[in-house]
Amino acid sequence: MCGIVGYVGHREAYPIVLKGLKRLEYRGYDSSGVALLHNGQLNVYKKKGKVAEMEEDTMGKDVHAHIGIGHTRWATHGEPSDRNAHPHLSQSGQLAMIHNGIIENYAHIKQELISKGYDFKSDTDTEVLLNFIEDIKTNNNCSLEEALRIALKRIVGAYCILLISKDDPETIIAARKGSPLVIGIGKGEHFLASDASPIIEYTKEVVYVNDYEIAIIRPDELILKNLGNEKQTPFITKLDMELAAIEKGGYEHFMLKEIHEQPDTIFDCLRGRLLPQTGQIIMSGVDNHIEALKNAQRILIVACGTSWHAGLIAEYQIEELCRIPVEVEYASEFRYRNPVVNKGDVIIAISQSGETADTLVALESAKEKGAFIFGVVNAVGSSIARLSHAGAYTHAGPEIGVASTKAFTGQLAVLAMMALKIGYVKGTIDEKRYLSLMKELEAVPEKVKEILADTSNIKRIAEKYKDATDFLFLGRGYNFPVALEGALKLKEISYIHAEGYPAAEMKHGPIALVDEKLPVVFVATKDSYYEKIVSNVQEIKARKGKVIAVATVNDDIIPGMADDVMFVPDTDEVIAPLLSTIPLQLLSYYVGLAKGLDVDKPRNLAKSVTVE
Ligand code: AGP
Repeated sequence: MCGIVGYVGHREAYPIVLKGLKRLEYRGYDSSGVALLHNGQLNVYKKKGKVAEMEEDTMGKDVHAHIGIGHTRWATHGEPSDRNAHPHLSQSGQLAMIHNGIIENYAHIKQELISKGYDFKSDTDTEVLLNFIEDIKTNNNCSLEEALRIALKRIVGAYCILLISKDDPETIIAARKGSPLVIGIGKGEHFLASDASPIIEYTKEVVYVNDYEIAIIRPDELILKNLGNEKQTPFITKLDMELAAIEKGGYEHFMLKEIHEQPDTIFDCLRGRLLPQTGQIIMSGVDNHIEALKNAQRILIVACGTSWHAGLIAEYQIEELCRIPVEVEYASEFRYRNPVVNKGDVIIAISQSGETADTLVALESAKEKGAFIFGVVNAVGSSIARLSHAGAYTHAGPEIGVASTKAFTGQLAVLAMMALKIGYVKGTIDEKRYLSLMKELEAVPEKVKEILADTSNIKRIAEKYKDATDFLFLGRGYNFPVALEGALKLKEISYIHAEGYPAAEMKHGPIALVDEKLPVVFVATKDSYYEKIVSNVQEIKARKGKVIAVATVNDDIIPGMADDVMFVPDTDEVIAPLLSTIPLQLLSYYVGLAKGLDVDKPRNLAKSVTVE
């Protein structure tokens, strides 16, 4: 949520900050802005809307500087507008600041400052924090760094901030708690960003700043301190990422590119781990903790959104293959309803970004209660990955499209391997089934390739139903969470109201919605529920609903009943979601496209939701 970029060094700061903001725009695009410091002059340009609008606004203006900070916003406090856009200036005009996060006790501090004569130009919590810092600096006659430290000890909430001052034209001061910050180390220059995508073009050496750390960054110097003013040793890591991974590579949208990358990303996820030839699954995070995993009395899966849907599929897999009871929790609910977490419980946290605040906070409290945390995360080095006791990366590469696609199938691949491995070691599945499921999993990348080889039928279906106002998505068993995911994807990308339901539950209420205008998407691949779902299709047809089915190739019943069919190759039902989800990703993509919407940056959303 919100993207932040900073640069200090020998190059022109503005083009670097601008390009970085474009790369981070997926994190929020309600407004954007930059602050550039040159010759004692602090130039701030900011604009409601996407980064391109701010860029246009700066045409012909003075953007010359060797130090600059920039922000792309997902609004929390205050509507999207020019005045609420970051950077904010302090009351004196000496300081400029950008912020990703939420200051929860801002209202109280604001009152305190108003009573001292401060007035506020925006509705943001950020401007409150900035003036609070300035007030402390003035009253205590201390350095900016010291004032920041005092302020951070008094605030409640999450933040990643970058701060520059007219008094110190070569220094960016940064701090984080709960919102990510990466610092790129160049020669006589430093780059700062919410993730590594704005940095990899310039350097691969980075430092991930930890919670409660303050960084003082100059062209030739990087000092890290904790809030107690003690120096910390920066831990330099090498980025394992190429520039091409964050570019569109000839596709019209990142979402389409990421859908088409799935044969490769799933392959990468399985590579070196799934070895059907030797009957082995090698996952160090699982192997090193196999006793805790196989002896777990209970597994709790904590996640949000699409990752939560992956968790539901894992629930079915783990219960079937490992015979361990599983509960899947929305992270936001889990945190605040005082759940029972016993020592020895295993918590699986699933997250693409590894920065989702709801999930992060839920894990922190579960960790305090003694739970063992296993992270299934895509973003390497992210907060959730670092907080977990063990884990497995999904290796899907950077996912830029706001709607999660390849990260979801990466999660499914990791979770399937985990369930298989634990079940086999525990003895709850026999060798024959173990080997057969391994082979099915190994075949997934090629089968996804088959689905993607010709998408024209799905495009046609999308265009046919693009004007529908509501959709129902139905599935049973392993395909029920796929139906939920299909509905979420359509909502996000096309703004069409869509609901996912277990197909059998439909007759307990949602069937009242069915008429000749309602498209009902059935995820009806050949599995142990097949006959039952055929009956559900009949029930919808009897009420004149329009049926769009995801069916298995060579199915000779569903195509005769459905209005439109999207085919997927046959596989075992345990693995089926990895295939049946692909046509639904494409369906939502093409509906969004047909409606002329911005599929990579749907309204009101952000890729990484770093506020609770
Ligand atoms: C997916 O399409 C969504 N944009 C969203 O539901 C997402 O899955 C959710 O916010 C969780 O994100 P995470 O996986 O990064 O934790």
